[in-house]
Amino acid sequence: MVVTAHPLASEVGIEVLKKGGNAADAAVAVQFALAVVYPSAGNIGGGGFFLFRSAKGSCSSLDFREKAPSKAHRNMYLDSNDQVIENLSLYSHLAVGVPGTVDGMVEIHKKHGKLPWKDLLEPAIKLAEHGFLLTTKESKNLNRFNKTKASNSYNPYFKKKYKQGDTIFLPDLAKTLKAIRDFKRDGFYKGVVAENLIDEMSKNNGLISQEDLNNYKSVWRDPIFGTYKNYKVISMGPPSSGGVLLLQMLKMAEYSSLDQLKFHSKEAIHLISEIEKRSFSDRAKYFGDPDFYTVPTTDLLDTNYIKNRLQSIDKNMATPSKEIFAGEWDSNESDETTHYSIVDQYGNATSVTTTLNGAFGSGIIVKNAGFLLNNEMDDFSVKPGHPNLYGLIGGEANSIQPNKRMLSSMTPTILEKNGDLFMVVGTPGGSTIITAVFQTILNVIEFNKSILTSVNAPRFHHQWIPDQIKLEKEFSLDTNLVNELKSLNHQLKFVNSMNRVDAILIKNKTLFGGADKRGDDYVSYF
Ligand code: DON
Repeated sequence: MVVTAHPLASEVGIEVLKKGGNAADAAVAVQFALAVVYPSAGNIGGGGFFLFRSAKGSCSSLDFREKAPSKAHRNMYLDSNDQVIENLSLYSHLAVGVPGTVDGMVEIHKKHGKLPWKDLLEPAIKLAEHGFLLTTKESKNLNRFNKTKASNSYNPYFKKKYKQGDTIFLPDLAKTLKAIRDFKRDGFYKGVVAENLIDEMSKNNGLISQEDLNNYKSVWRDPIFGTYKNYKVISMGPPSSGGVLLLQMLKMAEYSSLDQLKFHSKEAIHLISEIEKRSFSDRAKYFGDPDFYTVPTTDLLDTNYIKNRLQSIDKNMATPSKEIFAGEWDSNESDETTHYSIVDQYGNATSVTTTLNGAFGSGIIVKNAGFLLNNEMDDFSVKPGHPNLYGLIGGEANSIQPNKRMLSSMTPTILEKNGDLFMVVGTPGGSTIITAVFQTILNVIEFNKSILTSVNAPRFHHQWIPDQIKLEKEFSLDTNLVNELKSLNHQLKFVNSMNRVDAILIKNKTLFGGADKRGDDYVSYF
């Protein structure tokens, strides 16, 4: 079963499995297909995290997160008065981190792949070369991007107003994908594609150099392991904050008899929000690239520490977040990352979250190479206390340094029950990724919901600062609940929708797919 953000990408994945490929092969083919059909987040110019659990139960995770260019420096987004220059870390050539996706895919294939590399590129090349039909949501996505974000001179997507059923052809992207097909890593980090990228940078004050491309290396890291009730949780460690925070939150949930509370009751939402708030305050201080900063993972997951944190929760009143750096984030920004979950016929599972950061990343398309570049540099703490696109703040641990990886919230996760594969889950959504994965797991395990109901259920989110619960508008239909939460002193902020969770649940050896109704997300299986 393959669950992704786009029907065409899910089909690509399932065809790879039908040909005898495994979950890693399917992940690679899906990644390249999404780069074509889902350009707001699918990518070759970004990065991400890959989590793998083999049929026998061994686990590995690959960090193909972008890195700061070697010429990056701590104050690169500040003016001479030490003020943050607006949008520089988001929509300029300086916003771009050294892309990790292609190196990541090559590594995944080398370690886990079964089918020939070329076979995994062909479906994406075909879609780019022969064209593909736009869904309603995708046509709106492209039109919105066209209106709101200026991109650079060369723009294959945004020539006109699109509608559902229009066909898009991407010949330059097809050429780039062919170079990757024929030369693997060197097809992207060297040769014509690299030259185009460097040209793009040098003409526009960007920092990425050929040396940066030569030096980029994705890293196999130990996944984060933990337990929650009788489940084993496997997730992504630093430079993502996702796995550690998810485990903290699940442990706090386990120690607080959440299952006695009613689904989406005042008491449950209050407790979960208070848990989330506490974990996010740790994120701001303790998390950064582990190659540069020692993340105190063991301390943060220590049972006594977690129990202590829980003790400060008042059942009857929201604890105010320390209002030192109150941040706001722009809820109208269509922030896009993408997640896919795959279980193959052999029993292997992959959980992959990948991103350009904001929707369509920096909006910069590499001339003659046809792909979008990320704006991941904004995930660094550009100045202590200054909120990023998702309202997240940070300090020294996540400061900009040459060749360092920016902190992430991406949380590709796999759960086992009694030693067997139980759940594969993940989502986009910036800071809300961690809480959405947390709540999806709670919906299944604590509140006994089906995977589809769990994925589609309205969500709420607290990240410590700003001190508010962000709720999906569906919640405002229940005015009683809204008033009750306010009576506990919670500030509420309503947004249209959060996240697109794509998950697979395994029960009695049967796979159940959960594709989020909020997008075009789609379950393919055979
Ligand atoms: O790595 C991170 O945490 C962010 N760059 C993820 C961005 C994201 O999820 C956007 N999606 N909605």
